[in-house]
Amino acid sequence: MTLPLTEKYRAKSFADIKGQEQAITEIDNFYKQFPKKRAIVLNGSVGTGKTSLAIALKNEYNLELFELNASDLRNKSSLEAVLKPSTLQSSLFKKGKLILMDEADGITTSDRGGLPELLKLIAETKFPIIITANDIWARKFSPLRKKCGIINLKELDETTIKEIMNNILPKEKKQVKQETINLIAKHARGDVRAALNDLQSIFDLGEDALIEEFDEREKQDTIFNALKKVFQEPTTKEILRVYDNTRMNLDEISLWVEKNIPLEYSGNALERAQDALSKADVFKGRIYRQQHWRFLVYQNFFLSAGISAATRLKYQKFQSYQKPTRILKIWMSNMKNAKKKSIITKYSQLTHMSKKKAAKESFLLPLILSNLSQKEIKKIELDEKELDYIKDKKAAIIVANSLNRFREN
Ligand SMILES: Nc1ncnc2c1ncn2[C@@H]1O[C@H](COP(=O)(O)OP(=O)(O)OP(=O)(O)O)[C@@H](O)[C@H]1O
Ligand SMILES: [Mg+2]
Repeated sequence: MTLPLTEKYRAKSFADIKGQEQAITEIDNFYKQFPKKRAIVLNGSVGTGKTSLAIALKNEYNLELFELNASDLRNKSSLEAVLKPSTLQSSLFKKGKLILMDEADGITTSDRGGLPELLKLIAETKFPIIITANDIWARKFSPLRKKCGIINLKELDETTIKEIMNNILPKEKKQVKQETINLIAKHARGDVRAALNDLQSIFDLGEDALIEEFDEREKQDTIFNALKKVFQEPTTKEILRVYDNTRMNLDEISLWVEKNIPLEYSGNALERAQDALSKADVFKGRIYRQQHWRFLVYQNFFLSAGISAATRLKYQKFQSYQKPTRILKIWMSNMKNAKKKSIITKYSQLTHMSKKKAAKESFLLPLILSNLSQKEIKKIELDEKELDYIKDKKAAIIVANSLNRFREN
């Protein structure tokens, strides 16, 4: 089994962890001075090295790591196991113990098995406790903050992220254009895990696929921002320009609006929004049938101001908008068609037949290829991706990958 890059090259020692010198010094002091403080929080955004830093500390001092999760806090016997002085193992192996409560953000404040248990654990522990969190400044953590030291991890700058990627390339015997490395580092926004995952997808799918993917993500960011304004901000005149920099046409925008109205509106607001959407569609119909381009203004009006004004009840909350399924289908079939076209072009050149005829025969290609020798296949000059496409493997991978990304978002 091949490990993902993030595991294969996970930082294992202090020296492996880049750009976090301050945090390394602080966690080292915390350990040396234990039990001056019993617990420490590693606080920072995703992919900055929190979990790795805890593991690095364990390795630096050859400790035994005891990992806790939120559900362990609910379980009396596993809590007791953590608190146990561990006389047996300690005297046998002379190993100190380190307790890691990773990703504490989801811990609940009330009922059993939440924050109260963690606080109790901190009060009674004989071993240093490390807690990691993305946002220790959330209000619910106020009592926890009083009992722990806090170490902040920085978001990594682009130079450091590039360095980390460039260290991996020779080990993987891969060459990737520095331009592409720069692009990945920029898109990572301080998140090393995101960078390594993108590097991985280059290894698997090639640079073109990733660049396309970045483009798609950027496009998605702009429509997310626009939707947030339309749904969540008070209606002003400026709303009419809200879609200006989305790089999408109004028809595509309309699909996004349609898909996400039910996430934001209910009751009367939902009804009014759907009404605005159907008015936008009416104008769209006229635009297409009668080539009345000036109606674009109206289509835009209903999709922006119309949807926005469906309610006066505005609020700010995080909303993860959904991609319209129809677009996903169109996009996937475009990806397939692009590859198919390039294959057919090459096939028609080789066999001196028209592209049209080649296209008609293309379904035979898998059969033809399976009867050719490697040398003969070379002559067709299909690249590896195209060959894989014919065998229908790569196409499946591309589709699966885009679906996964889509689900993760
Ligand atoms: N500062 C860093 N230097 C080198 N590698 C890093 C650094 N930060 C993260 N990485 C690498 O990125 C991947 C993810 O790191 P890690 O799991 O420690 O992040 P995290 O801060 O715990 O993220 P999350 O908040 O999502 O749990 C690992 O492969 C790790 O080696
Ligand atoms: Mg982590």
